Amino acid sequence: MNSRISFLKESIRNLKTLGTVTPSSRFLAERMLKKIDFSKVEVLVEFGPGNGAITKLILEKLPANATLICFEINDNFYKQLSEIKNPQLVIIKSSAEKIEEELNKLNFNKANHIISSLPLTIIPEEITNEILAKSLYVLENKGTFIQFQYSLTYYKKLKSVFNQAISLDFEPLNFPPAFVYHCKKVD
Ligand SMILES: C[S@@+](CC[C@H](N)C(=O)[O-])C[C@H]1O[C@@H](n2cnc3c(N)ncnc32)[C@H](O)[C@@H]1O
Repeated sequence: MNSRISFLKESIRNLKTLGTVTPSSRFLAERMLKKIDFSKVEVLVEFGPGNGAITKLILEKLPANATLICFEINDNFYKQLSEIKNPQLVIIKSSAEKIEEELNKLNFNKANHIISSLPLTIIPEEITNEILAKSLYVLENKGTFIQFQYSLTYYKKLKSVFNQAISLDFEPLNFPPAFVYHCKKVD
């Protein structure tokens, strides 16, 4: 089935956890990843990969010795992602706030960068707070948390979590157009 139609069907069934009706465009995926120096990447984490719109681009750019660890709670997306046969990809069917324990299970304790498509505004606030706090904790120093949003509602919150070390970008060639936050951990 066409991936846009299957995404639409999934979003109708799960509007409260998807937050959109169509996968991200290649333009948005490129904008999310444009500041990452992939030559230095060892461990990347993706939150909310969906049917893999950003995941596939990350895998194209990932150096041979690096690992991509994805957290996805949706059953059907988890199954679709599991069909991507790539030894560098680990798909975890678990919510993003479990990042620290799941990385530890895989014998990692830090991530270089976290790429997030989580629908922050529809996840309960206490869970979002936990996800952001744990993300900050597991990021290496100078690592980045990259998030897109269709509005600026989380700009202030992310600024305070990341101690003002945040830059804002915008991608018009996406439906809907999206803001991209690049948040840097600075010890
Ligand atoms: C806006 S969609 C983005 C999908 C894809 N990354 C893209 O850009 O096309 C949000 C995704 O986050 C997932 N999600 C929502 N809450 C989550 C959570 N707490 N932990 C992990 N994934 C979550 C949803 O199932 C959905 O796949």
